[in-house]
Amino acid sequence: MLPLLKLLQDGRFHSGEALGAALGISRSAIWKQLRHLETELALPIHKVRGRGYRLAGPLCLLDEGVLSSCSASSAWPISILQSVDSTNAEALRRLGTRQEPPFVVLAERQTAGRGRRGRNWVSPFAENLYYSLMLRIDGGMRQVEGLSLVVGLALLNAIRAAGVTGVGLKWPNDLLVNGRKIAGILSELSGDPEDICHVVIGIGVNVNMRAADNIVIDQPWTSMCEGLGGLVDRNELVCELNRQLCRYLEIHQRLGFSALLAEWQEHHVWQGRAVVLTAGSQSITGVVLGVDRTGAIRLEVDGNERSFSGGELSLRLHDDS
Ligand code: BTN
Repeated sequence: MLPLLKLLQDGRFHSGEALGAALGISRSAIWKQLRHLETELALPIHKVRGRGYRLAGPLCLLDEGVLSSCSASSAWPISILQSVDSTNAEALRRLGTRQEPPFVVLAERQTAGRGRRGRNWVSPFAENLYYSLMLRIDGGMRQVEGLSLVVGLALLNAIRAAGVTGVGLKWPNDLLVNGRKIAGILSELSGDPEDICHVVIGIGVNVNMRAADNIVIDQPWTSMCEGLGGLVDRNELVCELNRQLCRYLEIHQRLGFSALLAEWQEHHVWQGRAVVLTAGSQSITGVVLGVDRTGAIRLEVDGNERSFSGGELSLRLHDDS
């Protein structure tokens, strides 16, 4: 963490002189570092004559010390980056340079955050959680089946543990609050799923991002702080997420997705709803019956049950179910 940023994270005014004295550097060196925050991290700095410098609001920066002291985190080495294109891309690069999984890559900011279906994932500095867990998969396809749905359950529990209410799952990988997206998961496989392969589980959570920050996202969204009304501690969220992931991934590895299927369906917000599934150029209209033991969605289509392993669900207009 940059020492200057640590001083500024309270969101209050600090004079150039006080910042220089605290860091043992000159005021012009402070000014250079402030420029760096603005240009390299896209972090606006407010300057008021006679009062000094402050950020637009308080931040909760990721802290290696805090993260390494929460017990479940120690199972997975964690790297924190200030800025990266995508934590998933970085985790895959590290795998290429022989970093041994499991490991976690976190970033304060992503310049090319990846969403599902080629979308961009908006990733402003220190507002949200950008988290990638790299795992080695030894058990063939069974170990991958339903994996990202299980991650959804772990994430749901972590967000609820912070006090957010009304969180639900939307197949396959979205977390919603009142129909607005709060988090998403992008899993990317590397290698042969029939043999030894690796999967990077990318998790993005809207934590302290506010609509007032001029954020443009092409779908309805919300963030944890909207429901909680204050700054959320992102280090605590990472610790809880690690704990929940350890617990759910262990169950999934031992018993497969079928052991968690009922729990997943309990939280599925569109269970029993009339939907349209868009998969490639196909649009299928049906009613959601649930998911099967591989994690595929089960729809009733024209009186018949059909399963689909990929695609995007949207609610059917004029749904009176
Ligand atoms: C979605 O579209 O719902 C999935 C979003 C996944 C975003 C996360 S942020 C951390 C990780 N790195 C990425 O580039 N994407 C995922």
